[in-house]
Amino acid sequence: MNIGGKPWRTIWENPETGNVDVLDQRVLPHRVEVRALSDLATAAEAIRDMTVRGAPLIGATAGYGMWLAVRSVDEDRVDAAAAEARRVLDATRPTAVNLHWATRTVQARIAGAKDGNKRAAALECAREIVAQELDRSRRIGEHGLALIRDIAARKGGGPVQVLTHCNAGWLAAVDHGTATAPIYAAQAAGIALHVWVDETRPRNQGASLTAFELSEQGVPHSVIVDNAGGHLMRHGMVDLCIVGADRVAANGDAANKIGTYLKALAAHDNGVPFTVALPSSTIDFDLPTGDGIPIEERDPDEVRCIQGRFPDGSTGQVLLTPEASTARNWGFDVTPARLVTAFITERGVLAPSELATLRD
Ligand code: MRU
Repeated sequence: MNIGGKPWRTIWENPETGNVDVLDQRVLPHRVEVRALSDLATAAEAIRDMTVRGAPLIGATAGYGMWLAVRSVDEDRVDAAAAEARRVLDATRPTAVNLHWATRTVQARIAGAKDGNKRAAALECAREIVAQELDRSRRIGEHGLALIRDIAARKGGGPVQVLTHCNAGWLAAVDHGTATAPIYAAQAAGIALHVWVDETRPRNQGASLTAFELSEQGVPHSVIVDNAGGHLMRHGMVDLCIVGADRVAANGDAANKIGTYLKALAAHDNGVPFTVALPSSTIDFDLPTGDGIPIEERDPDEVRCIQGRFPDGSTGQVLLTPEASTARNWGFDVTPARLVTAFITERGVLAPSELATLRD
């Protein structure tokens, strides 16, 4: 999608340096900066410190991280280096399963390659992961468009009002996004819409990243505080909720950014369709229910402080709470499958009970 009217992706190979470059999401929306990933350590750090974030992009970065870890290693040591890289990358963030899927996929490709071809196989596999995520996002957009089109037809006038939480946009994927893919597809199809963007405390991925994307794309939107969604739904101001996911269990229980569950409850109470847009790489078929999904607990200072831009244009963070107050900071929650109206996947719009059909 676009920044400043020019097409961008979140991750790409830089032919001049030989590195993998990524858009630094820690400094958006106030600065557009690129960081280079040159080895395993820089790739792992970029995931850990949230230079890159969002489940599909974490997976794509981990895929390249596996290649960066083995690219300068002697061919007879590639399998050992890949095993070590998988251990390091898997430990960076616990919840998004795309990470583990990507490292497992690249390691298996390396193991299956003949001696002499292992490093090339790692790069080929990392590229395939990126291409697959791109294609999946596009197809999620097409399937989600049908849902939005139906709502627009039923409404018979006025913009379709979509509520989203966190950033499951192109910045969280390679391009297009998951939750935003149907929104961009609807915009391209000429359907009028307006997006309610939950600010998504504590890191404000909605206010800083989703709002940035939608502004750059010219999609009408309003940023709202995280607690506003219930009020809007009670007053008929939301036609459809679309969120992303970091890991979905085989029964359809869906982990996403903290606060998603409360939106699902409010949607259920008010008869608003609550949909989860995801590529199949986000489904953990080995987990029967969401009870087994590991929930990341992050630095309490993300809750105690807030980051932004000062009037002089510099950026930084300020303390919100009393110095002495402690805080807790869970990154994700699990929405039970019974509250999910549908999953928008690359293979169609599915009920929770139909998710198993995506298992290869
Ligand atoms: O902590 P983050 O910013 O990585 O969390 C991101 C989310 O929760 C997204 O909604 C999810 O990864 C889906 S991204 C298409």
